[in-house]
Amino acid sequence: MARIIEKDDRRPGVAAAGVRPHMPAAGVRPHMPAAGVRPHMPAAGEQRRHVHVGAPRQRHHLGRPRRAQRREGLAVHRADEGRERPRQVQSQARGGGADRARVRGDRHLHPRPESERVLQRVEALEHGQGGVAAPGPEALGVSCLCGSHRIGAARLRAAWHSLAVMASMNRAALRERVEALPGLRVLLPVLAGLPPAYLVGGAVRDLLRGADSLDLDLAVEGDGAAAAREIAARLGGDHVEHGRFGTATVRSEALALDVAGTRRESYSEPGALPDVEPAGIGEDLARRDFSVNAMAIGLSGDALGELHDPFSGAADLEAGVIRVLHQASFRDDATRILRALRYEARLAFRMEPGTEEAARAAAGEGLLDTVAGTRVRDELLDLLGEADAPTAVARMGELGIDRALHPALEAAPDLVASVALGCMETGADRALAGLAALAATSRAEGLSPWLDRAGFKAGERDAVLRAARRAAVVVREIPGAEQPSQLHALLAPEPPETLALALGMGAQAEPVLHFVRDLSGIALEIDGSDLLAEGVPEGPAVGRGLAAALTAKLDGHARSRDEEMRVALEAAR
Ligand code: CTP
Repeated sequence: MARIIEKDDRRPGVAAAGVRPHMPAAGVRPHMPAAGVRPHMPAAGEQRRHVHVGAPRQRHHLGRPRRAQRREGLAVHRADEGRERPRQVQSQARGGGADRARVRGDRHLHPRPESERVLQRVEALEHGQGGVAAPGPEALGVSCLCGSHRIGAARLRAAWHSLAVMASMNRAALRERVEALPGLRVLLPVLAGLPPAYLVGGAVRDLLRGADSLDLDLAVEGDGAAAAREIAARLGGDHVEHGRFGTATVRSEALALDVAGTRRESYSEPGALPDVEPAGIGEDLARRDFSVNAMAIGLSGDALGELHDPFSGAADLEAGVIRVLHQASFRDDATRILRALRYEARLAFRMEPGTEEAARAAAGEGLLDTVAGTRVRDELLDLLGEADAPTAVARMGELGIDRALHPALEAAPDLVASVALGCMETGADRALAGLAALAATSRAEGLSPWLDRAGFKAGERDAVLRAARRAAVVVREIPGAEQPSQLHALLAPEPPETLALALGMGAQAEPVLHFVRDLSGIALEIDGSDLLAEGVPEGPAVGRGLAAALTAKLDGHARSRDEEMRVALEAAR
């Protein structure tokens, strides 16, 4: 995906922070319902649904039972965790009366007292004062509650917070934020006359989380490749098409973006690449991995700023939940297991219990072996490259995903954490060193065919295997390497990943850092041809001479080119 500007992916999720510095937009209070954020509003004529509080696990009976079940799971999960709700949203929602008048002036908006009443009821309930009949979704002004099923206080409270945040994201606010993204003022006029275009996937997730620059992913209803061509031409830029899924990357001076035609996907068997057919934005969202990635924001004409959120992704974003859209999701594409762990770690989110169970089951059934190795490799390296990779690795272990990837892998979150520090000191690749850490406790050789099958490049494979095999040796032998030349002989043949892993495993830091800082860059001024010119015969004598000269130089006994030559000739003869 094209990256325009580096973003801070470690920004905590909204649920964790409870603060959305970018929201609400001026004049918009959180209790205002979202004109552009009502993907599940009941169709005209659909009857108002009542939410009864008190029996948290009963399924609702009017539509979307699967989502209702999943939400039941969320309530239990959050209650178990005892996480704090973000209080700030609440206090914003209880703001001044001036807003109330403005809210009443908008026929779409729900008057504030009703919202407050709900909150008070929820609080009363939490203090053990019995059940209440909460208002239906229309009364709350947001349909994402998918009403008419019985819910518990924790869930209603979660829904309230989702509602409050979502309400702050009305179409005008979203439009403003889309327009403020780098390059969008150039892009939006260019879309005029093209089929409807949407910002999709992670871009929407990150925009709603407050990112002010992001990877631009566009979905266009219709021929994505043709749209990409046209956008590139209008921008005076280039485009590159990526084959069978009709995706393309457009680059111009002002911006870079990925463009795809909206499509539906079906999987002939687990792990197969999907069969795709053109379809509308709704089906395009339904083919995606998680609810937080299954949202779109309109970019064309009057639809600019309109949020499409058929799977309540904004609510899950607010609640800190990773949720698959359907139970077969991991079966269709088991790399999503790794993606779920990555998002959990990056966003400080948690899989909802049904999703977690499906991930555990899919891994246990060996479905990770059904996908192309290169896709597993890419996702695994992305996961291990996350700033909070140790959290993802801990979850790998909990769910048995380490062993499911390969029996020689064992989740070692603490080691991965200390290896990450070692990477900073040594310049090692965090993901490769992290993978070596997972293999360090077992016979890493067994991993070699798997790494090959997964499309690791030879250099990557060797770095992982060597680090996994040699780090413990390095830890052991460093104390005996007293001379700089001995340290050099021990560490120079190793990739940086061995050093990082050795540091993570408790190697003496000072010698390793001394090697990295002072010794690793030392090279002779002479080379083999200089020795040949002095009459040394071709063959092992040349190597012997150069090695001796390097040892002398490292240990401070050869401080000039002439001294190097003297030592080398002595050793070679
Ligand atoms: N997607 C999916 N299943 C996958 C991979 C991707 O459904 N196995 C969808 C998701 O909707 C995702 C989008 O394709 O948001 C783009 O994929 P990718 O670029 O990998 O993810 P982003 O969310 O855009 O970016 P990132 O995870 O790097 O933040």
